[in-house]
Amino acid sequence: ANDGYKLWMDYQKIENLELKTEVSDLLSNIYFFGKNPTYEAIKNELKLASDSWIGRSPKFSQERLTSAKFYLGTREEFSQVLSLTQQAEIKALGEDGYWMGPVEIEGKTYFSIIGNKPVGVLYGTYKWIKTIQTNTFSKDTEFSDSPKIKLRMLNHWDNLDRTVERGYAGFSIWDWHRLPGYIDPRYIDYARANASIGINAVSLTNVNANALILTTDFMKKAKALADVFRPYGIKVFLTARFSAPMQIGGLETADPLNSEVIDFWKKKTDEIYSFIPDFGGFLVKANSEGQPGPHEYGRNHAEGANMLADALSPHGGLLIWRAFVYSHEDEVDRHMQANNEFEPLDGKFKDNVIIQIKNGAIDFQPREPFHPLFGSINKTNVGMEFQITQEYLGQATNLVYLAPMWEEVLKSKTYKPSPASTVGSVLEGKETGQKTTLIAGVSNIGTDRNWTGHLFAQSNWFAFGKLAWNPEATSAEIAEEWTKLTFSQNQEVVSKVGEILLVSYETAVNYMTPLGLHHIMGRSHHYGPGPWVVGGRADWTAPYYHQADSLGIGFDRTIDGSGALNQYAPEVVKNWEDPHQIPEKYLLWFHHVPWDFELSNGNTLWEEIAYHYDQGVKEVRQMQKTWDSLESQIDPEEFDHVKQLLAIQEEEAEWWRNACLLYFQTFSNRPFPSDIEQPE
Ligand code: GCU
Repeated sequence: ANDGYKLWMDYQKIENLELKTEVSDLLSNIYFFGKNPTYEAIKNELKLASDSWIGRSPKFSQERLTSAKFYLGTREEFSQVLSLTQQAEIKALGEDGYWMGPVEIEGKTYFSIIGNKPVGVLYGTYKWIKTIQTNTFSKDTEFSDSPKIKLRMLNHWDNLDRTVERGYAGFSIWDWHRLPGYIDPRYIDYARANASIGINAVSLTNVNANALILTTDFMKKAKALADVFRPYGIKVFLTARFSAPMQIGGLETADPLNSEVIDFWKKKTDEIYSFIPDFGGFLVKANSEGQPGPHEYGRNHAEGANMLADALSPHGGLLIWRAFVYSHEDEVDRHMQANNEFEPLDGKFKDNVIIQIKNGAIDFQPREPFHPLFGSINKTNVGMEFQITQEYLGQATNLVYLAPMWEEVLKSKTYKPSPASTVGSVLEGKETGQKTTLIAGVSNIGTDRNWTGHLFAQSNWFAFGKLAWNPEATSAEIAEEWTKLTFSQNQEVVSKVGEILLVSYETAVNYMTPLGLHHIMGRSHHYGPGPWVVGGRADWTAPYYHQADSLGIGFDRTIDGSGALNQYAPEVVKNWEDPHQIPEKYLLWFHHVPWDFELSNGNTLWEEIAYHYDQGVKEVRQMQKTWDSLESQIDPEEFDHVKQLLAIQEEEAEWWRNACLLYFQTFSNRPFPSDIEQPE
């Protein structure tokens, strides 16, 4: 039985005899041009693969040009045998890039994997392994690749007591209690999984940070993790609590312009680098949702961020400052607050600062239009923050493949700073020449045997890595690769699992928040429907967002409303300001629309809302049928796990539909269309 622990790296016996012979031949004599810890990691991976594929271990030869069949190394190590043109081609692939294919060595041709650095060789090896697993390997074909984003990062929202903020897959995998003495083998598997999809940075701790992580005892623990991750090309970051100088430094202030505070951070940072010489830097949430920050001292975000950036820069460290800021004391539409704060500061941040911006302006809703900060600040480094953990998307019970959402965001046209700009091109630095580019994802990993709670949530970890490496990849090609690696090569499985994956996102949007509705989920836990939620601060209530009344529904963010639409480029304003022109998926995000408003298909808004909710439920049932039809082809344990969860998802889709439609009906005072399942 398969409990999902091995993720997409569950290497299987090779059935294709021709391939098996070819692979056995390659693995019978492997030569590494150099020696370093990353090559040891590669050898370990080749051993795991070989044992499963052909039932025997690979052989590593000590000498070149004896009987070796398979060569690995860096461009420099290969330099004697590569032509200058070949060397130039590989060099152009950059730090993390790699090349694989036939290389002529002393008159004979050998299959080789070459990187500019050892980590490139590692990425190339993982790619090669995938070609074997998906039966697409050909030793005579050249292939090269390199990432379009420099920092491909997981953000763990893990607390030091091992609870995980918005985590739905058990507890934190960081066993702080037994670190640094005990290295859980799981850390190595975690590093392997990340490296196999190109992830090269992790922030270990919650953005709602605990200053204790910056004490010497915890630094030693973080160092132990950094040592495990290093051969896999993964750098460690930590979250820095802005008030740490007071909590652990004995100071009375955390004012970023105070000399003692500056000194505290310099010393702290130096100390971290004494343990972790390649430490990545800090990730900071400040002046947001009650977290401390520079505003307490009348300083702005740039002053706060730059002070920390100065402490990091002698070591080459980065300071990642989050743009997720909003305050309930601010009467302004929450959608607008980040732009209001950051646009005036554009150009005031140091070079080693990156502003990390959520994909949308509210908070990881099932669907959001892209964040208006993308394209608005162009003299400051920007990075993306996606949420892999499904806080607002059914947590660990709903099957929702998130790549289509991320793809939609990355492909969105910002029209700023140039007419052809998209969120993706901005992130790649194509528009501004930004060098240190970043895509981060809030991790969905925990202590559950299968890492992510829902087996299919593994696809989101996988897809995140793939899109961070190449924001131009498509969700369909990623779905296909994940399915082949996770389940099987069988055509029926690939196409049916693909169907489920690709429909699942729109399905969830349909039964949760269709047509631009947002933030109508249960209070604080964000699970299940709660469009009626009131009380406490306004921007944590649901009616703040849906604005339903007897006339209609939706948040007017046009120029006559909150004006948030104005934060976008004029082309976007033009496309979205007219409720008849805006893509219907964003309609109620920007417009308050009468219940009888006519949509493009002739339905009234009220009917259309009802059809979307109903459609969501029907699609879940279709996903169940498709899954059931695969019973004979899927491992029984995995089959049953997903089947049970889909049954829960069906109930929850009905719950969402019934709750939302019955609630909104109290405003619309209209009957449901007769051809939908009547909510009760
Ligand atoms: C959401 C989430 C919080 C989290 C916050 C953040 O609001 O519910 O748990 O702390 O985002 O991104 O900082």
